[in-house]
Order: sequence, then C-alpha cells, then structure tokens
Amino acid sequence: MKVRSFIAYILVMLTIVWAIATTSTAAPPVPPRPESPTESLRSLAAKRDFFIGGAVQPQLLQNDSTYREVFAREFNILIPENHTKFWRLHPERDRYDFSQADAIVQFANEHNIKVMGHALVWFHALPRWVVEGNFSREELMEILHDHIQTVVGHYRGQIYAWDVVNEPVEANGSFRETIWYKTIGPEYLDLALRWTREADPDTLLYINDYAEGLNSKSQSFYNLAKDLRQRGAPLDAVGFQTHLGFLSADNSEEVAENMKRYAELGLDVMITEMDVPIDKFSGTPEEQLEAQAKMYRDFLKICLDASNCNTLVMWGFTDRHSWLTGFTGSKDPLIFDKSYQPKPAYHAMWEELKGTD
Ligand code: G3I
Repeated sequence: MKVRSFIAYILVMLTIVWAIATTSTAAPPVPPRPESPTESLRSLAAKRDFFIGGAVQPQLLQNDSTYREVFAREFNILIPENHTKFWRLHPERDRYDFSQADAIVQFANEHNIKVMGHALVWFHALPRWVVEGNFSREELMEILHDHIQTVVGHYRGQIYAWDVVNEPVEANGSFRETIWYKTIGPEYLDLALRWTREADPDTLLYINDYAEGLNSKSQSFYNLAKDLRQRGAPLDAVGFQTHLGFLSADNSEEVAENMKRYAELGLDVMITEMDVPIDKFSGTPEEQLEAQAKMYRDFLKICLDASNCNTLVMWGFTDRHSWLTGFTGSKDPLIFDKSYQPKPAYHAMWEELKGTD
C-alpha cells in the first residue's frame, strides 16, 4: 500500500512539475476581460484628461431611464445628434425653438458632461424657409449672422466646442457647392467662425468632415484648415467624423499621420461621430465583434497617443438606437448592445483607457 501511495505521490508531483514547466515556456496568458468593470469609461478617461462620449437624442433621455443612466455613468461628453441643427433650432425666420436642445444641456449640466454643438452651418438639416427663400448674398449673411449670434449667445458659456461648419469639402477636393458657398462665397467659413467667436469667446471652434485618412478629400480639408489658420480665422480644431462603415478611411495608421500634420498647424483633432458597423467584417459573429472591438481600440489608441487629440465621440452608444439602422441597414455599430450590455468593443476601449496606470 505504502509503495503504491508513494508512486502515486511521485506521479502527481511529476505532473505538477511538467505543468509548471510547460506553462512557463508558453506565451503569457491573455488577461481576462473585465466582465463587470468597477470603473466606468468616463472615470478612466477623466484620469487622462480625456473626453469620451456619444451623440444623444432628447426623447430617449426623457423616456428611457436605462439610456439616460448608462450614458451618465459612462460618458463625460455628448453631442446632440440632431437638436442643435439649424432646422431644429430655427424653424421659422423669426422663431427659435430651444426646448429640446435645452433639455439636453440641462441633462449634461446635471451630470457634469461637456456638450459639443453640431452644426451651425451645414448644407443639410436646413428649414425650407432658408432653402427656398431665394435670398441675396446680403440677406443670407444677415440670416447666418442672426442664427449664430442667437444660438451661440443662448448657450454662451455652456458649450465646450462648436462645430461651426460641417462637411465643407467634396470628395474630389473642391468646396462643397452648398447654399452658403454659392450665395455668400468661400468667405462664409471665415465669417461663421468669426461670428461664433464673437458670440462665445471661450468655446472651441472646429470644422468637421469625413476626411480622416490620406486621400484627395482629406487633403483639401487639410488645405482649407491651413488657409483658414493662415488668414487668421479663429479655428481651434478639426473634427474627424469617423463613420467607418462607408466613405471613411479605416486605416488607423493613415489617420494617425493625418492627425500629426494638424498638430503642426497648431490644430487639435477630435473624433466626432465614430461608428463601426459589424457587417463591415467577415467571419463568425464572435469574430466580427472582435474585429469591431479592434477598430474601436485602434482609433482610441491613436487619439490617446497623439499630442493634439483628447476627444472621442461615437454617433450614439447603444445598438438599440443608431442612424445607420434606418439609413443603410448596417448593423450594430456601437459599443453597447441593444440591451445596453457592454460589447467586446466596450471592453477594448476600457482596457485601452485603463492602460498600465
Ligand atoms: O424626428 C423627425 C420626425 O418628426 C419626422 O416626422 C421625420 C420625417 O422626415 O423626420 C424625423 O427626423 C429625422 C431625424 O433624423 C430624426 O430621426 C430626419 O428626417 C432625418 O433627416 C434625420 O437624420 C439625421 C441626419 O444626420 C440628417 O440630419 C440622423 O438622425 C443623424 O444621425 C445624421 O447625422 C449626421 C451628422 O449630423 C453629420 N455627419 C453624418 C451623420 C450621419 O448621417
């Protein structure tokens, strides 16, 4: 009996020694994902002076307590997805409606969340009275001046950054032929920036476009920003929309290169509308989720690593509500699923923000 127990004992010990030896020569184990992180994205971001956020819709903030609570828990910056656009705020020439945007700003103030305004000047989301008004150059300048003065003045001191001109350039590199460009001329950008600065001297001013990678469109967006700076226009930053499902570069190295040249101009870069539809990737559903997570991690990393990027905003935050669902039918582009559970993309961003401390 004794001999048999001794042999059994030796065998067990050998097995343990073998297990230790083989484990120590194998690759280091991948740390487990934090399944229930005790820290939120916003608390990790705050430690690095970083802003992480999403676009929001006021009716969801009002009617969906989970939407509201998850947002307030996880994010420290927001953009109204639609309710600071021209047609929402200024539906008639002599009538402004701040009710919905005010509700968003109030929510943000209650939860110590910064607000970015989007977009004072855009070719889209304009009311009919502007589009069909047949206004002269002087009239349209007066309308734009009144709009900026009233809107920016209304929120003076409460908006962290204003998207002053959204999508000013075309894919082929020319100015987008908007009503503003055609009626006022290219100086509509300088005027809009100047009027915004006058109405709120302390807010950051940026122009915003899908011009993230290195191509003819991003070259003309860069040239425009450079010209504006050289002419002394009050421009502080550019926004990279970063809708990675279409129209955008998804090569994060190119985007990092692009960020760097803005730093040389003294301009910050903000990622303003990031989303990554899952059907962009092939493979099993798990592989698609991992590929999506990698994309979010890579873009967060290039922003964290850049000297001039401290803001990443997604175009929403839960797959329950995304503009893409209605627009292209693309699927599940955000970091929380439809039940507000964090996806691998959330965990990837969490780990990236956590860093090594
Ligand atoms: O809420 C109204 C509803 O009352 C009305 O009956 C209905 C009829 O058209 O429209 C509803 O509003 C729609 C709104 O989304 C809210 O869902 C607008 O038609 C529709 O045009 C609007 O689309 C928005 C789009 O910009 C145009 O403004 C999307 O939600 C919004 O996600 C999208 O966001 C843009 C950024 O501003 C700029 N960059 C690209 C990005 C994605 O397209």
